[in-house]
Amino acid sequence: MGFNVAIDGPAGAGKSTIAKRLAKELGFIYVDTGAMYRGIALYMIRAGIDSHDEAAVSAAVPDAGVSIKYEDGVQKIILNGEDVSGLIRTEEVSAAASTTSAYKAVRARLLDLQRDLAAENDVIMDGRDIGTTILPDADVKIYLTASVECRAKRRYDELTAKGESHELSKIEEDIRQRDHQDMTREISPLKKADDAVEVDSSEMNIDEVVAAIREIINK
Ligand code: DC
Repeated sequence: MGFNVAIDGPAGAGKSTIAKRLAKELGFIYVDTGAMYRGIALYMIRAGIDSHDEAAVSAAVPDAGVSIKYEDGVQKIILNGEDVSGLIRTEEVSAAASTTSAYKAVRARLLDLQRDLAAENDVIMDGRDIGTTILPDADVKIYLTASVECRAKRRYDELTAKGESHELSKIEEDIRQRDHQDMTREISPLKKADDAVEVDSSEMNIDEVVAAIREIINK
């Protein structure tokens, strides 16, 4: 069994940035479970399957072969043999992943993949249900959150830096909707595990969050 650090929290709280940095420092592998859900969502979009049609999505799940590999320590998401890492960060995939990740068949498909990685390696795994469902016995559990306004502003700045223009209010609305979907779904909703330590990054920069979590891990 590897040493397992679970980081859960809502979209835009900074989980992946922080987890990547810490994984590098500690020599652990970083497992981005959201990317796996995004890979399945991309499969459905390409297959022309409506993400809201649970029966159709569930029937197609066995055809969506998602796996991961590491290149220079960076996780790549592989969909039926194709590296789709560069295609899963669009708003369309985000929305579809939030919808399809609520389905039992989708979650069941990824559960073993995630548990096997944690059993075989020292990992920092981020997602929504890592501390509650996937790795209930994780050595360290963090719930990383930030206000909606702050998460929307970070996303806005990120998109602006990429030269994309979006309305801040629309981004904020999308985040609220995704939070609602992720937190109220029946299976594995996003919530803080009872034994997780909550870190609110609203007023913190990346270095401060990394330092705070490093301290929790080293306790
Ligand atoms: O972290 P992310 O934004 O890349 O995740 C994409 C979607 O997948 C998000 O709407 C929530 C869902 N997800 C999940 O349900 N469980 C996880 N462990 C990780 C992500």
